[in-house]
Order: sequence, then C-alpha cells, then structure tokens
Amino acid sequence: MNSSGQTVHVDLGSRSYDISIDAGNLPQIAELTRLWLGRSPDQPLRCFIVTDTNVLQPHANAVKSALSDAGAEVQVVCVKAGEASKSLAEASDLYDELVDFRADRKTVVLAVGGGVVGDLAGFVAATYARGLLFVQVPTTLLAMVDSSVGGKTGVNHPRGKNLIGSFHQPAGVLIDTDTMATLPDREYRSGLAEVIKYGVIQDTEFFNYLENNIVGLNERDPAVLRQVVARCCELKALVVKEDEYETTGLRAILNYGHTYAHAFEALAGYGVLLHGEAVSIGMLCGSRLAKSLGRIGDAEIQRQVDLLTAVQLPVDVPQDLQAKPDEILKCMLLDKKTVAGDLKFVLPDRIGHVDTIGGIDTKTIVDCLSS
Ligand code: NAD
Ligand code: GLY
Repeated sequence: MNSSGQTVHVDLGSRSYDISIDAGNLPQIAELTRLWLGRSPDQPLRCFIVTDTNVLQPHANAVKSALSDAGAEVQVVCVKAGEASKSLAEASDLYDELVDFRADRKTVVLAVGGGVVGDLAGFVAATYARGLLFVQVPTTLLAMVDSSVGGKTGVNHPRGKNLIGSFHQPAGVLIDTDTMATLPDREYRSGLAEVIKYGVIQDTEFFNYLENNIVGLNERDPAVLRQVVARCCELKALVVKEDEYETTGLRAILNYGHTYAHAFEALAGYGVLLHGEAVSIGMLCGSRLAKSLGRIGDAEIQRQVDLLTAVQLPVDVPQDLQAKPDEILKCMLLDKKTVAGDLKFVLPDRIGHVDTIGGIDTKTIVDCLSS
C-alpha cells in the first residue's frame, strides 16, 4: 500500500468508478466531480448536496464552497442527523426540493455524511427522474469503508430496516480522512469493527497490519487511517465486482457477524448498541460458532478478542440479551439471509477466509451467545 493518497477503482463495466482517498482532498471535489462526470470546466454543473445537522458545518459547507468557487450552481439540503431520517417521508421532502431546484438528469446529487445520508441521498438519486448522477463524500469511518462503496441505497420501512431500496452506483467517491477529526469517538470505534471484519473475511495480512498498528488506530494517525480506508475499499471493491447485485452469495461474506449483530441491535433498543459495537460482539459469536463446527480453534478467537478489545470495542453479549436466547433466535430468523427458515452464517475457517454455512441446529447457534 502507498503512504500517500490513492485511488481505488471499482470495476463494474459501464458502472465503474473511482474512490479518491487522501487526507485533505475535500477542496478537490469540483475538479473530481467534473472528471467523473466527463464535464469540462466550461460546461454547467448543477449540484444538489444532501447532508445532516452534524455534518453541515464544517464539511458540507466546505464542499459547497469548493463547488461554488469552481462555478457550480449548488443547493444544500440538511436532514436531521440520525437513522430516523432514512425514511420515505424524508425521501419525499428531498424529491420536493429537487423539483424546486429544477433538477434534471444532468444534475448531480452529492451525499456528504455518514451511511444514513449516503443511503437516503443515493435512494433519491436512484429514483428521481429514473436516475440522477450521484457522488458520495462519506464522513464516518463506517461510510468510508462500507456504505459509500458498492451501490446499495435505500430507506427503512417502519417494519424493517433497508426494506425499500435500489442498487445505484455512484459516479465517484471522495474520501477525505481529515473529515473524521470531528467524528465522535464512539462512532469512530464502531467503524473499526467493520475494518477488522475485512481482515477476518478476506485478508490475513491486513489483520496482521491492524494488530501491529493499534496505537495508530487508537490515535487516528493520518497515515494509518489512509492505508486502512484504502485497503478496506479495495477489499470491498473486489467483492462488489464479483457479485454486484448479491446474487452469487459472495457479497454475503460482508455480513460476517451481522446475523447476530442485527438481532442484538434490534433487541437492545435504538441507540443502546451502535452498529459496529453489535458487529464486534456478533463476530465473536460467529467465531464461537465456527469453533463449535470445528472450523477454527481458540487461537483465532483470541486474536479477534485481543484486537477488538485493543480498540475498545465490546466483546461480550450484554447480560440482558444473553437471557433472551429465544427472542434473539426469532429476530435472526427474520434476517434477509434466512432461506426457508434455515439461518445462514458467515463463518471463518482461519483469519482471512470465510464461507457461508447453513443447516446449523438452533441449540448450537444460541450456545454461542456466551463464551
Ligand atoms: P450515521 O450516518 O448516522 O452517522 C453517525 C453519526 O455521526 C451521525 O450522528 C452523524 O450525524 C455523525 N457524523 C457523520 N459524520 C460526521 C463527522 N465527520 N463529524 C461529526 N459527526 C459526524 O451512521 P453511519 O454509521 O455512518 O451509517 C449507518 C447507516 O449506514 C445505517 O443506516 C446502515 O443501514 C447504513 N449502511 C449502509 C450500507 C450500504 O452498503 N449502503 C452498509 C453499511 C451500513
Ligand atoms: N454492507 C454490505 C454490502 O454492501 O453488501
């Protein structure tokens, strides 16, 4: 990996795009957007920025200034921070704003924010006028390494998360790792769970790199952050290239730990466990399940416990949830990956490789809630 900024290419034929990753590259947004859209500086550029109340100042305003200074016409719409904004009602308000802005198929929608803003703005871009151009500017670690890459967009239905959505690849992704300077510690650490996930599912060397750079991870060292984000984007791009529409089963490997995690998030109550915190605990339940099937030993579990603990992520299922195995199981059966009542789990057979396994009896599944 380079120590300076780099570009990761997502290879999807006519839907291919670049992810530009650096520290302090936000001012390049106009130049990069024009490049990705194939617009010369003398051609008009109309930009519709979607952001949230925590990201507007300074990040979305910085994007707006850079675009305006480069001659673009810019509208900024700010939604309330939080998962509740990923709704059809909010999407509808954004459609109204797009009508007022006289948006057409040459208008570009820019999402400046975390996964909530990215999923919502991407869904609106996918559906308005049967598809607007879309650029992602992720500002959380989770959005940088996961949600901004791969084209999944959507909003929540009152009865299910991400139930309404579409695949809509961006034209480009600009990642300025400096934007994480304002990210609350807990949100940052939550993103680290997804980072560690990539090491377990795809890349032993990357897992070793993380183990050897704990201080840099904890101190948000710019060089470490850049390398980590770039490698995660490369790893996700490899999966998305092979299984863009989640049809072959490969893309499901990104859900390592998530079958347990989604149940923990749902049952703990909104905001009690952040997504990454639930994933951290869920990955260890998955590893214990892998061990009970003879796929890995204690050493592989301990390495994950040590790394997750070193970056201050929780590793144990909270006591109140351990007391509800039946409810956890019921919740897991609602998981989108469940086929005809058979729960599927993404399980490692070493650090750096996983398979999707079904047909596991329910007692074994719930026994792995405790260590
Ligand atoms: P988020 O967007 O809610 O951001 C977390 C919090 O950080 C929010 O309060 C936000 O306002 C704040 N924030 C964002 N950037 C900031 C910054 N630089 N400085 C200060 N505060 C900042 O949550 P998230 O964790 O980024 O994303 C979670 C969402 O992503 C969920 O809705 C999930 O379903 C979705 N997701 C989508 C995909 C996908 O492939 N599309 C993948 C994973 C997750
Ligand atoms: N976050 C899972 C995926 O993009 O497929």
